[in-house]
This record gives sequence, C-alpha cells and structure tokens, in this order.
Amino acid sequence: MESNFHRSVDFCGTCHDVSNPGVGNLAHNFGAQAPFLATEQVIADGSITEDPKDYTNKAAFNNQPYRYGIVERTFSEYKAGLISQTLVSDYPDLPADLQGGALKADYTAALTAGTNGDYEDGTPRFFSCQTCHLRNALPVPDTQYNGGPGQTYDYFDTFALQPPLGAATATIDLLYQPTSYEYQLFLLKANRGANPFLAEEGANMFEAWLNTGMAFPYVMASATWRDPGLPACTAGIPELAPAAPGDAQIDLT
Ligand code: HEC
Ligand code: HEC
Repeated sequence: MESNFHRSVDFCGTCHDVSNPGVGNLAHNFGAQAPFLATEQVIADGSITEDPKDYTNKAAFNNQPYRYGIVERTFSEYKAGLISQTLVSDYPDLPADLQGGALKADYTAALTAGTNGDYEDGTPRFFSCQTCHLRNALPVPDTQYNGGPGQTYDYFDTFALQPPLGAATATIDLLYQPTSYEYQLFLLKANRGANPFLAEEGANMFEAWLNTGMAFPYVMASATWRDPGLPACTAGIPELAPAAPGDAQIDLT
C-alpha cells in the first residue's frame, strides 16, 4: 500500500517530540536541560498550589512546548543527526562500522522495491522513522493467503470445518459481534467513580447495552451445507389442502 503521507517523517514528528506540562512547571530546571538554561529562560511559577486555581503562570501557558518538560525529543534528535540526511541507496558507501544492524535491515528491505533503495515510484528514500519502525506487514510464513513474488494476497481466510460425525446438513453463519458481555462488565465494574463527570458512564453503557438487545450477534453472511454422500431427497413439496368452514372431513388426493 502506498501513502505519501504515511511515509513522511514529518507525520511521525507531529507527535514524537513530547513535553509534559506538569513536569515543565514542577521539575528541577522545569524539565529543561542545563545548557539550554544557560542562555534561555523558562517562565513558570514552579508551584503546585491549586488554591486559587490559576494557570496563567504555569509553564504550558508561557513557553513553546520545546522549552520545557522534556519527555522525548525523538523527532528533533533524528532531524539533528546525519542519519536523516543519508540516502538508503548510499548504504554500500557507509563506513564499515555503520554497515550492519538496523541500517542493513533497512537497506535489504528497501531493495525489494527494485529501485536500488529508493521508493518504488523513484522518489529518493532517506533513512527515516519508517525505514526502521515500519515494515511490510507480511504474514508468517509469507506464503500464506496465496502469497509469494508476483502474487496478490487473498483478503479472506480459508479453513476446514469439522462437522460432528454423522452430520447430514448444516447452516453456517458468519457473525459480527459488536461488543461482548465481558467488555460491558469491565466498563461497569472498572469505573470506580473517581471522576464525578464520568462516574456513571459505566452504568449508563451497561443499561444502554441491556436495553438494545445486548449487542446480539449480527449475521453478515450465511451458507448451507449438505453431506454430498447422502442420496438426494425425493419428497415432494407439501401442498396445503383446501378446507371450507363447516367441513368435518377433507380429502387428501
Ligand atoms: C497522532 C500521534 C502519533 C503519530 C502521528 C505517531 N505516533 Fe508513535 N506513538 C504515539 C503515542 C501516543 C505512542 C504511545 C502509545 C502507547 O504507549 O500506548 C506511540 C508509540 C510509538 C512507538 C512505541 C514506543 C514505545 O514506547 O513502545 C514507536 C516505535 C512509534 N510510536 C513510532 C512512530 C512512527 C515511526 C511514526 C510515524 C510513522 C509515529 N510513531 C507516528 C503517537 C503518535
Ligand atoms: C536507524 C533506525 C531508526 C530510525 C531512523 C528511527 N528509529 Fe526509533 N528506534 C530505533 C531503535 C532500534 C529503537 C529502540 C532503542 C532501544 O530500545 O534502546 C528506537 C526507539 C524508538 C522509540 C521508543 C521505543 C521504546 O520502546 O521506548 C520511539 C518512540 C521511536 N524510536 C520513534 C522514532 C521516530 C518518531 C523516528 C523518526 C523521527 C525514529 N524513531 C527513527 C530505530 C530507529
């Protein structure tokens, strides 16, 4: 599946620089690194006091997120490093001590596109979040579901049913189960009511579930099966015999 959006590192970057506003306000150095504070300042009250509730002096409302409360700087670190500027196709020219591990795995995987390490459409491919973290989600073994070079995977599964010994016919339903009793029970019981706004939601969900058929399984598809070894059924189709009001007897012909 191709998606220019999902293959962009900027997509991962929208989330993978993380600052924590609580840490940013309360932690040592406001969760910033000392060299940063040598030239920069974090504006924060450093106070845990909630009385009166006043957030105007907290870190999150006075600084850009990159300044405080470091949880992770994965994206910035990636951008600052040389790996983000290295083409996968340049792998064979990397110094010997860099040839191996994740980079080798990336290069080997990228070669399967048949474009020397670039994307299949020819766009140059740099070592990215995706080359290391996202791979083809091939089944194991990859020959399952009609898989293999040049093949198209089946979007369905095939499996043998085991009817009880002596069974002659069967109706086979494919069911969709929207939610389970166990999940509803979990929502009901796991909610201890600590948050007053959400305290009743488990009970409300459970009541809604009870009153809407308890998420009765939905039949998505149905098929019938008949033991092919059995002789064909020869019985005629039954007919309704007519009867007039007052008749005590009807003739079956
Ligand atoms: C919309 C926000 C968002 C985007 C976009 C995003 N992530 Fe994440 N990612 C998260 C969150 C939140 C978690 C933590 C999930 C959890 O702990 O349950 C996470 C977890 C991860 C983890 C596992 C971290 C761990 O501690 O196990 C990896 C690896 C990862 N993301 C890589 C990526 C890559 C690569 C991309 C881009 C293709 C990406 N993420 C895009 C929000 C995002
Ligand atoms: C060269 C390969 C490579 C690249 C490029 C790369 N990562 Fe990673 N990443 C790794 C490896 C390997 C680990 C595990 C490190 C460890 O466990 O010590 C990791 C760890 C992580 C974690 C934490 C996972 C955890 O379990 O704590 C996150 C989140 C993450 N990467 C996201 C990203 C994002 C987002 C990008 C792009 C901005 C990126 N990575 C680029 C290889 C890579």
